[in-house]
Amino acid sequence: MSLIKWIEFPPLGDDRGSLVALEGQKTVPFPIRRVYYLFGTKEKVSRGFHAHRSLLQVAVCVTGSCRMVLDDGRSREEAVLDSPTRGLMIRNMIWREMHDFTPDCVLLVLASEHYDEADYIRSYPRFLECL
Ligand code: TYD
Repeated sequence: MSLIKWIEFPPLGDDRGSLVALEGQKTVPFPIRRVYYLFGTKEKVSRGFHAHRSLLQVAVCVTGSCRMVLDDGRSREEAVLDSPTRGLMIRNMIWREMHDFTPDCVLLVLASEHYDEADYIRSYPRFLECL
């Protein structure tokens, strides 16, 4: 089964332009407790390099693009996020890396829980041990 699961957002635009609305437990399959976004990522910088013990996330590139690598300890898959009308579902216990941010990239992330450093696994060998 693929690690890459897209959620297509219903387009609500009209002749004035585009609009996407994201609702917890509707468009996004969990209650949204936190929203954050990455922007102004410097050239050649990669981010992520961690997994979460229980956090669920959906990532959407509202402007620009980046490349996401997801790894469940058995296989590694890649996805290019370049559309404001679809999000990438990232479940818990998935190692993620983000690469190739365009200078204009704004990566919006919807998360199922408040920030909790104890939920992070920041070492890949430790991630494999926790599976
Ligand atoms: P981090 O998760 O390491 O970023 P990334 O994985 O995208 O490279 O977060 C960077 C810093 O921001 C770190 O000190 C934790 C802090 N942070 C919060 O305080 N709240 C949050 O919701 C997030 C995502 C990070």
